[in-house]
Amino acid sequence: MKTYAIGMTAAAAASALLGSADACASTRESALVEWEFCRGAETNRAWQAVRVPHDWAIAGPFDKEHDKQVVAIFENGEKVPMEKTGRSGALPWIGEGWYRREVEIPEGCGFASLVFDGAMSEARVFFDGAEIAFNPYGYSSFEVELPAAKSGKHALVVHLQNVPESSRWYPGAGLYRPVRLVTGGAVGVRTWGVNVRTPTLQTWEADVDVRNPGKVQVAVTNYVKEGAGPYRPWSPESPNLYTLVTEVRGADGALLDRRETRFGFRTVEFGPDGFKLNGEVRKFKGVCMHHDLGPIGAEWNAAAFRRQVRKLKWIGCDSIRTSHNMPAPEQLAVCDEEGMMVMAESFDCWKEVKCKNGYNRFYDEWWRRDLESLAKVCRSHPSVVMYSIGNEIPEQAKEDGRDRSRTMQEFLRGMDATRPVTQGLSRWPGAGESGVAGVMDVCGLNYRLKFYDYAKGLARGGIVLGSETASTYSSRGAYYFPVETKVTAKTIREDGQCSSYDVEYAPWSNLPDDDRALQEDRPWVVGEFVWTGFDYLGEPCPYDHYWPSRSSYFGIFDLAGLPKDRAWLYRSYWKDGERTLHVLPHWTWPGREGKVTPVYVYTDADEAELFVNGKSQGTRKKDKSSRLDRYRLRWNDVVYEPGELKVVTKDGREAAVRTAGEPAALKLDVEESDARDDLRFVEVSVLDAAGNLCPDAAVPLEFAVSGAAKYKAACNGDATSLEAFAEPRMKTFHGKLVVVLDKSGPGEATLSARGGGLSVSVTLER
Ligand code: GAL
Repeated sequence: MKTYAIGMTAAAAASALLGSADACASTRESALVEWEFCRGAETNRAWQAVRVPHDWAIAGPFDKEHDKQVVAIFENGEKVPMEKTGRSGALPWIGEGWYRREVEIPEGCGFASLVFDGAMSEARVFFDGAEIAFNPYGYSSFEVELPAAKSGKHALVVHLQNVPESSRWYPGAGLYRPVRLVTGGAVGVRTWGVNVRTPTLQTWEADVDVRNPGKVQVAVTNYVKEGAGPYRPWSPESPNLYTLVTEVRGADGALLDRRETRFGFRTVEFGPDGFKLNGEVRKFKGVCMHHDLGPIGAEWNAAAFRRQVRKLKWIGCDSIRTSHNMPAPEQLAVCDEEGMMVMAESFDCWKEVKCKNGYNRFYDEWWRRDLESLAKVCRSHPSVVMYSIGNEIPEQAKEDGRDRSRTMQEFLRGMDATRPVTQGLSRWPGAGESGVAGVMDVCGLNYRLKFYDYAKGLARGGIVLGSETASTYSSRGAYYFPVETKVTAKTIREDGQCSSYDVEYAPWSNLPDDDRALQEDRPWVVGEFVWTGFDYLGEPCPYDHYWPSRSSYFGIFDLAGLPKDRAWLYRSYWKDGERTLHVLPHWTWPGREGKVTPVYVYTDADEAELFVNGKSQGTRKKDKSSRLDRYRLRWNDVVYEPGELKVVTKDGREAAVRTAGEPAALKLDVEESDARDDLRFVEVSVLDAAGNLCPDAAVPLEFAVSGAAKYKAACNGDATSLEAFAEPRMKTFHGKLVVVLDKSGPGEATLSARGGGLSVSVTLER
């Protein structure tokens, strides 16, 4: 056991004071926000004050030498190792980091612990210099008990270590999720100790795990705070929540502990009819999401995640797969509130290697504890409807894989029998032949559309899930001619971008249209999870060996959270009861006069007519027999002339784009937010004199913030940009970018942007 002695600054010590002795009367949790941090193998360096959640790597700088991997990626069909520069984001997340602060255990407590919602990674916790805990997997939540009898102030140190080639994407670095001090009496409800379930839409039952070292006699009661019902069910459309109150009383009736757990009444069934939520059949309109929040990095932030969820709901998405690791507990709270179903995933590999230094190093010793943590964190959340024990696990086509699948699924079901277990299977027919497909509660296929019918024959209940679909590449606002539908394995263009006509996709995947057709034509397919909802840091396929690409092209939304054209394609068939009409590309093409410039329209309408400067280009109708015309309206022979491009649907709706002139103004749009949000997002657009977006504007901007806010980050969605998010300057990409402000306190604040001879400012009222 290693020990470390550390010094402590007054600031960190002061922030650790917890208040009064009633911290022990009932279990209490206090966020440990103020810490000191330093990087490196030793602690005798310059410590800096930081607030946790904290991602030490997101400030940059981008550099291709960080975690440069020379590897052959099996999943990509590669046989020869190649240099992969931006694979894990080209940010400085590798290495060691230290966090320290004081923590005070109040007088008279019978219990004290630390709860880490996640720590990246290989966390070692030191209490007064002695190592008291180790947790290797950066994504799992864990609790560390403290010697409660030792009241007073203590030195707390956390050491983290990220090794090279341990991730296929940007994992972030440090105490990137909340850390809490839990204190209370000797007898009390354990952390994640309440497991509430709703067997029917009007009934609930709960198990409570009580710590009770002295085995004293206690009585545990639960009741629903809002009363006896009738209860309104939870669903993505109406996320009604209730509160279960748990009370623990001693033999004399004295209240020893009280805990509130938010939950919702909903039922989940998977059977021959498909997936049923609350007794009604529906298909998942889902997306896969990595945990990073774009320019915020891995640092957990509820406002930034809620923004993503609301954008997804705007396109009709109803579910998220937390690919490929366990979600933060706070993430589930947001999904409960907003109405977003969750497939909670755990691992990207088990015992066999995927990345040289991945979870395979820990699997044997840790999988049980990590799955236990997953189940405990998830099981009372109505949003979680399914677990996944893995993504494209290397041993899926072997008997070992089948045995592990069975053992892990059984273990998880022992923790929580109310939700089915799946995994994303990619090696077909191997995953069927090995028996894995037939073992899983729900058989999940990643891509491989040709194998859906085969999988159905093996799958329990004859139902199949598109656990991962699409992997279509695009860059917001980038269009190339001629428009070609193509599989793209490697670099295709010098500028490092992909076409926003949504026709380029990875060799192992397909077009969104192919998935949608399969979903519609096969009732036994229970839905899909598109790769991905938002662009993420790392994995810049098809430019994964091409510097300076450092983030993905798969997103329906870009890294800044701005919608790509594809957002309207999904919206056109996902968003029930709402109208969608979107035309692409933009219509500012100096030099393309007289050239063929195809036009696509994404709409729920079946038929529409297109006009260029008032001249009809003909009518198009959706055609079920055609791969690209089933869900899109396409005019492939339009000849470009400047002016107005307008589409009119058969039922009289119109959408238009106009040729833009030179940049003449900047516009700032403050995105809607909740009063509780501590981050605000401001969209910056470059406009011409008539108010049209200048679709190719790359204007270098500088930002200044005054009043009650701080500059946090900017992001333009360009996967090849090496401008650091945290610096108050950035170039617009295709005429837009997003500025993020830290607005934790009340009061007015002003954001100004200037550059290219233009300037603008906006005042945020609260
Ligand atoms: C899948 C994999 C994802 C991501 C994706 C890119 O095979 O599960 O993590 O790598 O490919 O298309």
